[in-house]
Amino acid sequence: MSQLIFITGGGAGIGAAIAEAAVARGHRVALFDRDGDRVAALAARLGPAASAHAGDVCDEARIEAVLDSLDAAPDAVMNNAGIVQFAPLLDIAADDFRRIMEIDLNGAFVVARASARRMIARGSGSIVNVTSIGGIAVSPGTNAYAPAKGGLAALTRLMALEWGPLGLRVNALAPGMIDGGVSEPIYRDKKVRAARAGAVPLRRLGRLEDVAGAALFLASEAAAYVNGQELVVDGGLTGSLMAQIPRSL
Ligand SMILES: NC(=O)c1ccc[n+]([C@@H]2O[C@H](COP(=O)([O-])OP(=O)(O)OC[C@H]3O[C@@H](n4cnc5c(N)ncnc54)[C@H](O)[C@@H]3O)[C@@H](O)[C@H]2O)c1
Repeated sequence: MSQLIFITGGGAGIGAAIAEAAVARGHRVALFDRDGDRVAALAARLGPAASAHAGDVCDEARIEAVLDSLDAAPDAVMNNAGIVQFAPLLDIAADDFRRIMEIDLNGAFVVARASARRMIARGSGSIVNVTSIGGIAVSPGTNAYAPAKGGLAALTRLMALEWGPLGLRVNALAPGMIDGGVSEPIYRDKKVRAARAGAVPLRRLGRLEDVAGAALFLASEAAAYVNGQELVVDGGLTGSLMAQIPRSL
């Protein structure tokens, strides 16, 4: 069934890949991004099935206005906008820490709640909160990103608990090491790229389309009984800890 899918951070990386895959499957997408030019260019390329909306996920009034401007409550929300800034905990400025939390956790909450109120009025809907394996297996230098994503995973379970009885499903999707989007600069280094790909049981980095496919699954009827889960899309990486440790037998 064709859905109207609201995608934050829809102008680039994972959000744009979800938008492309969604339109290819016959869905309509409303793309929300603080980079208005980028999101307008993508919507123009995707055609009449896509609309572009400039705005910041920290701006509750703007989110409300954009949701009101759509012709219906979204059937699904991809709560995907997020940022990362690498710095050790001992060095990161408190204002930078707060800004990351504000976008990656508070912003996701505001988008989910504004959408949920409209979906609950209709009695159905699905929310996918994009988290990260960085909230599960913390990585040095990721400061506020790790607790923001770990917090969003916990918030997902709480949303599923409170909104499930009202007709909504809420799940998280945790991408692993993805060859694109915010991680693109990491993989310009060929040695780092090969070492990281080699550490994954599937022996490759994730593709943007890998994440998009999983996101659309969670939003779809195929996932009708999946609620409050965090789907890890990492080629098996987070489950491979014991492969790093030698044993004698
Ligand atoms: N790419 C990866 O390797 C990876 C891995 C794990 C998790 N993730 C998560 O996936 C999500 C998407 O990441 P990506 O790699 O596509 O990043 P990206 O930087 O390529 O795209 C993010 C988009 O979000 C928009 N955005 C950022 N802050 C915003 C705000 N405050 N309001 C509105 N829009 C905003 C940006 O303009 C950009 O278009 C993020 O939540 C990220 O944490 C990415």
